[in-house]
Amino acid sequence: MSEQKFYISTPIYYPSADLHIGHTYCTVMADAMARYKRLQGFDVMFLTGTDEHGQKLQSVAEAAGKKPLEYIDPIVDNILDLWEKMEISYDDFIRTTEPRHKERVKKIFMELYENGDIYKGEYEGMYCKPCEAYWTDSQLEDGCCPDCGRPVESAKEEAYFFKLSNYADRLLSLYENNPEMLQPESRRNEMISFIKQGLDDLCISRSSFDWGIKVPIDESHVIYVWLDALTNYITALGYPDDRKLYDRYWPCDVHLVGKDIIRFHSIIWPSILMSLGLPLPKKILGHGWVLVGGGKMSKSKGNVVDPRVLIERYGTDALKYFLLREYTFGNDGPYEDETLIKRINSDLANDLGNLLSRTVSMIEKYKNAKIPSVPTEKLSENYEAATSELLNLAKGTATKVEEAMDEFAFNKALEAIWTLISRANKYIDQTQPWNLAKDNATELDGVLHNLAEVLRMVSILIYPFMHTSSEEIRKQLGIWYADVKWEEAKQIHMLGGEEVKKGKNLFERLDVEKELAELYKSNGKEGTDEASNDSDSSKITIEDFDKVELTVGEIIEAVKHPKADKLLIFKVKLGDEVRQIISGVAECFKPDEMIGKRVIVVSNLAPVTLRGEKSNGMILFAGENGDYKLVTTDADSGKVVK
Ligand code: MSP
Repeated sequence: MSEQKFYISTPIYYPSADLHIGHTYCTVMADAMARYKRLQGFDVMFLTGTDEHGQKLQSVAEAAGKKPLEYIDPIVDNILDLWEKMEISYDDFIRTTEPRHKERVKKIFMELYENGDIYKGEYEGMYCKPCEAYWTDSQLEDGCCPDCGRPVESAKEEAYFFKLSNYADRLLSLYENNPEMLQPESRRNEMISFIKQGLDDLCISRSSFDWGIKVPIDESHVIYVWLDALTNYITALGYPDDRKLYDRYWPCDVHLVGKDIIRFHSIIWPSILMSLGLPLPKKILGHGWVLVGGGKMSKSKGNVVDPRVLIERYGTDALKYFLLREYTFGNDGPYEDETLIKRINSDLANDLGNLLSRTVSMIEKYKNAKIPSVPTEKLSENYEAATSELLNLAKGTATKVEEAMDEFAFNKALEAIWTLISRANKYIDQTQPWNLAKDNATELDGVLHNLAEVLRMVSILIYPFMHTSSEEIRKQLGIWYADVKWEEAKQIHMLGGEEVKKGKNLFERLDVEKELAELYKSNGKEGTDEASNDSDSSKITIEDFDKVELTVGEIIEAVKHPKADKLLIFKVKLGDEVRQIISGVAECFKPDEMIGKRVIVVSNLAPVTLRGEKSNGMILFAGENGDYKLVTTDADSGKVVK
């Protein structure tokens, strides 16, 4: 067994609904990294799974009239099926409802308890139900959950606490002294300032529902779902009772997580490990989000992109390539059908597909299907110049891929490979083998040999990202039976005498318009039963709408909220009445330029207090995600809007 080991994990997904392209994105990155490391000789442990406890899952199951597992099992089957179709090479898939996990979580709870880090108290605070998280007033953003932006409610319960506050100093020096451990930098800075504000102890039990692992010392409580979930990274390795795998693979080399769950992984998880006296993960890497229409995917918006539809139409390799090539690690990026189709056409069908089919066809036609050996004599200057440029690029590409992979820059790795592919296509145009075939057999041998060599190297380089296409290339080149070895992507002149055989096109060119129409239909945007049901649930009736009272208001005063950078406090005149209304638009407007504007106000909204200031109503703005414009009117203040 290799001495070098590499342990990579994805988050364990909530099986509350089928997974979408965003979840697929993370898992595909982890898969590419795992395959790449295996190819480099590492003994890899790649872990993924499902996070199956908690109030949210209990509620969705109840809403569907099912017991939790009755609801969850078929979704987990779909997830397993999706990973099989995507050819995800995980080594273990952990479900948090499995006995192996539940028993170990209880043991871990007891260890924390015996170490004096768990105590019983009473929790009172603002609770975000969907995120199952309590927040302090100072953590709330505009009175809402800082993670999901939804409203929170006040809640109180007897509970067990973990002494998170004890770990703030150690966490701080950890991230200040090991900046590479937590990336991207922007998130690290956010976490550092979050920790600097001081950490409250963490409420780690719930008694308001029972879908979870029972607290071993008090069965009327279940263990907080994040404590349950985070420990999967070690329970899957057998910790604490069967430490063979644990001893081999822990600490984890990389926890790959979405940027929204970095807080849990960089604050709660290391504190638990410190309390257990265990080593910390080497890296926590937060990736960006795949956005649709500028925002998150959601069932009610009807904009969820189903990876299954894309795999069925274009195949696993095309989807993997797209996800890894299109997005920059750490940044959000939009998903658009058209970009996917165009990438398939240009990068896969044109660049890679053509290089293979042209090369194999020419070797069949001119060389009786045998790859020529490299000629030993000196050839024309034109040939030597073009060849050394191509082969130097080819020999250096593996190193560029390595550098990119060290930074998780999958897009840069693929860009480097495609630079080589384009260069090889240009080499065909430069050397014109069809002319050499008439009068220069030696140079023709050289050109065809070099093209086959580059394709052989490309087949190794793309293996971590799209291994089926890699194997198809090797098969067509007659080297399909050979093991793929990474180091051979740095060597040249290995081929000679292999028998090529033209096979199917690697990727078909697609008709963009036709595909767009088909995808539009498949994603349920064109009146299937399911789609119309789905959209019904997001519609309101005229009676619902009638409940909203809209009134024209004139802004007569605007000032910054003293305790919140994002909030403006307005005084708005609605006819004879003057109201105070707070809006989260301070980043988009200067207070002074708002005076005198006539705006539309939701005037029958229940009043709330935001960071100590009353807000009575809501001003409408156009835009979302922090980019707002005024919605103004000429009508007099106090007029009803209908
Ligand atoms: N169950 C927790 C994770 C526990 S890990 C110990 C959870 N599950 S989740 O299903 O809601 O999300 C899992 C991951 O999917 C998160 O990392 C999240 O960032 C990621 N994504 C969800 N939607 C996404 C996109 N649209 N784009 C990219 N990743 C996205 O959180």
